[in-house]
Amino acid sequence: MDNITFLGKQLKNPLVLASGILGNNAKILERVHQAGCGLVTLKSIGPAPRDGHKNPTVIDLGGGMINAVGLPTPGYDHMDAEWQALANRDFPVNASIYGGSVAEFVKVAQFVSDQGPDFIEINISCPNSDLHGMLFGVDEKAAFAVTNAVKNVIAVPLIAKLTPAAPDIGKIAKVCEDAGADAICAINTAGPGMVIDIEARTPVLAFKKGGLSGPMIKPVAVRCVYDIYRAVSIPIIGLGGVTTGEDAVEMFMAGATLVGMGSAVRYRGIHVFEQVNRELTDWLAAHHCTRDDIIGAAHDPIAGPDSTAKKSRKTP
Ligand SMILES: Cc1cc2nc3c(=O)[nH]c(=O)nc-3n(C[C@H](O)[C@H](O)[C@H](O)COP(=O)(O)O)c2cc1C
Repeated sequence: MDNITFLGKQLKNPLVLASGILGNNAKILERVHQAGCGLVTLKSIGPAPRDGHKNPTVIDLGGGMINAVGLPTPGYDHMDAEWQALANRDFPVNASIYGGSVAEFVKVAQFVSDQGPDFIEINISCPNSDLHGMLFGVDEKAAFAVTNAVKNVIAVPLIAKLTPAAPDIGKIAKVCEDAGADAICAINTAGPGMVIDIEARTPVLAFKKGGLSGPMIKPVAVRCVYDIYRAVSIPIIGLGGVTTGEDAVEMFMAGATLVGMGSAVRYRGIHVFEQVNRELTDWLAAHHCTRDDIIGAAHDPIAGPDSTAKKSRKTP
């Protein structure tokens, strides 16, 4: 699969590196691009330096991972070397940001927009100090406020990244669309979950609870993308548990325009992008169809790719 147009930008394929998996080093991200990734997402950048949680922060559960990394960040204005290196890049970048309040999101977004990313993704799955520890992404008013405020201060398309913790993720996605989001990214990690060391009689993660990712959350992610597709007409980056070309097909059928991978990079290495791209291309060829034919196909399997529901959507 190659040459996708997404929100007016050319991508070499529809595969996306998820945020937080390989950091913000331009050289490493360039290698990921060379290894077949269409769009790389930066690790979420916050308003001030933050260490994150103590180790252990990531545990492989087999079939998925649990993590409580705790959003470590140098802070948006302590990244001169990274911004300089990224300014000279020749690959598309999605810059993920977070804040503890709308004002913090706006401050980070304004600065990051000036650094010339291709897209800005707001991670609205982090605690909102304005709402006493709630997530922006589970509260309709908070989701609208932050999306709208960020949209007003940036010069690039805005992607809202949602949490499966929302009781009605379709509603949150619609609120973000109404507030000016150009695309939705779903999902962030699921849970939170906990793993207990029964001999030590204690939770294994230092932070005790953590978010689940990898193959074990794929059905949750597919359901979320399906619900979002029915609620909005903007494009969706579908991620959560995608590891193979067939997983990507499932995400497209749920309604994704692009498909992201995070944990799969740990399981299959950075070449997972070219491998999944090849698997996807082979699947489409074997089934005599294109990516366009299968986007949203699970919503109207009898009417197929020519259904009116599909035709009425905005083109990405
Ligand atoms: C170790 C780790 C760190 C992560 N850090 C971030 C982050 O900084 N910002 C963010 O939006 N998502 C973060 N995520 C969530 C991923 O971007 C992704 O949404 C999630 O892992 C589901 O996709 P996957 O099953 O393909 O990994 C992180 C996930 C992991 C495993």
